[in-house]
Amino acid sequence: MKTVRSIASLEAALKPLRSKKSIGFVPTMGALHEGHLSLVRLAKKQNDVVVASIFVNPTQFGPKEDFKKYPRNLSKDAALLKSAKADILFYPSAAEMYPEGFQTSVTVSELAKPLCGLSRPWHFGGVATVVAKLLGAVKPDTLYLGQKDYQQFLVVERMARDLNLTVHVKMAPIVREKDGLAMSSRNAYLSVTERKEATALNRALLSAKKLLSKGERNAAALKTAMRREIAATSGRIDYAEIVDARTLADVLVLKKGSKALFALAVRFGKTRLIDNILVNP
Ligand code: PAF
Repeated sequence: MKTVRSIASLEAALKPLRSKKSIGFVPTMGALHEGHLSLVRLAKKQNDVVVASIFVNPTQFGPKEDFKKYPRNLSKDAALLKSAKADILFYPSAAEMYPEGFQTSVTVSELAKPLCGLSRPWHFGGVATVVAKLLGAVKPDTLYLGQKDYQQFLVVERMARDLNLTVHVKMAPIVREKDGLAMSSRNAYLSVTERKEATALNRALLSAKKLLSKGERNAAALKTAMRREIAATSGRIDYAEIVDARTLADVLVLKKGSKALFALAVRFGKTRLIDNILVNP
């Protein structure tokens, strides 16, 4: 695996390959876990060349969020990417990504508003902007994102379509710990007690899904089931919603054949966790 630090050296590595080889791209902020590695492996299965990036993007963090303490361990991450058979690690500097005078941002107006957009209104603008920049540098055939950040996937997919970027945007399933907790770089912040309690997110989603399978179609009743699981812990609910899986608009009654997203964001101490499941009643 080759590590490149600048856009020019990335282009030098990719230019000879572009006409003959397909390029898959996995953008990350590092602190890699099995969820990221599953994306790299999928990208490798579907492409000739896989580029993974590590860039802790300042513009998607709020002023009081964890940008400074976000876990950074380049040598460990590089070893993991190598083991997952990534070909190129792109590790750009903040100075190159956001040079002096930088003044452009990408807004995906509607999809960025609900769910995480309510408590983190800056977040998806930062994500869309940096992903647009990374796509401009890598110019992949296919971009791979995880379902855990489902709203991010929709925002990026919309952005790529709206800006006529020719990239395919693919989503890969959530990877979970044995006890059901969705893998996340932020799980490392949890205390032992919080880590145990955090399994309530998955239980909450599964209990709503079970209720749905028994015939409950009323979203309010399903959301109450989700909230009940979280209420048994010290977790503070940011949102527990049921939305249309394409538009993220609120769903009141789940209808046969229309895909819905059960989505949760819960804070344990200072750590905010998200999780979701897609259902197709
Ligand atoms: O999901 C992430 O790790 C980030 O939001 C991304 C897509 C790498 C953009 O910074």
